[in-house]
Amino acid sequence: MQKKILNIIGAGRVGKTLGRLWHEAGVFNVCGILNNSLNSASEAADFIGAGRAVTSMKDLPPADIFQITMPDDDIENITHALLQSEILREGNIVFHCSGALPSAVFGVLQEKNVFVASIHPVKSFADSMQTIESFSGTWCGVEGDKSALEILRPAFEKLGAKLFSINIENKTLYHTGSVFACNYIPALIEAGLSCFEKAGINRNQASEILKPIIEETVENIFKSSPKDALTGPISRGDMKVVKRQQEALDQWDRDYAELYKILGKRTVALADNG
Ligand SMILES: NC(=O)c1ccc[n+]([C@@H]2O[C@H](COP(=O)([O-])OP(=O)(O)OC[C@H]3O[C@@H](n4cnc5c(N)ncnc54)[C@H](OP(=O)(O)O)[C@@H]3O)[C@@H](O)[C@H]2O)c1
Repeated sequence: MQKKILNIIGAGRVGKTLGRLWHEAGVFNVCGILNNSLNSASEAADFIGAGRAVTSMKDLPPADIFQITMPDDDIENITHALLQSEILREGNIVFHCSGALPSAVFGVLQEKNVFVASIHPVKSFADSMQTIESFSGTWCGVEGDKSALEILRPAFEKLGAKLFSINIENKTLYHTGSVFACNYIPALIEAGLSCFEKAGINRNQASEILKPIIEETVENIFKSSPKDALTGPISRGDMKVVKRQQEALDQWDRDYAELYKILGKRTVALADNG
């Protein structure tokens, strides 16, 4: 069967990484690559090893599939631009990779009998080369039109993705789960490092000191459960220690004091009930 033609609108970290994976696995024929700047679109085309860089939607070639991998805040605008453009044809598939937005953001395109979907890789695309190597095995949350998913599911599976369905109504909470469990870890560790610094231990040494217990804790969470991985004053019931720490933070930094209080409350609940 002839390979389907795919245009990429937004070939940044996710866009160009998927583009190269499609190209290398021979899944789709990557054709148009639209970015804000020609320079970055050309760089993306070089990275992918296929495709023609453009900076205007009218210069995109006709395609079967449109991969919209721009920042979330711009996806709604591009939807209207796509609707007004002459580029979409009946039966086309338009999908994005956002965990924060539903495929319904493309709802207006369904007027043109276009099928829409969202495939959200639960992965950090910080380093494109590294992501190419490690993409296989990535969990991807999937929702959208049946006709779009009939094409996109097997395509992502060819890249080694492990797909799971998301209920579109609960998508915001689903994505919040990743934000809590992943994005907030750096912020929490930063809070820990700041306390060490305030106590007179420099950041580099603080980082070395904390690394083993952070790693052990993460390992224990996945070996058993968050409750079983819990150690420290709250899990021992040393509430006088907790009170003194709260007071020290109250006197030093209002945000950290607030954070400590709320997390402490949830940690007590975790220690009690799991
Ligand atoms: N990064 C992650 O780890 C990750 C993980 C899972 C899902 N996602 C999702 O993947 C999507 C893309 O994220 P990203 O991190 O890859 O973003 P990114 O690295 O910031 O790349 C965005 C790309 O979109 C292009 N762009 C912006 N506005 C445009 C416009 N009006 N027309 C055409 N192109 C435009 C930019 O072009 P220029 O380079 O010319 O500015 C840039 O190449 C988002 O929906 C995000 O939620 C991201």
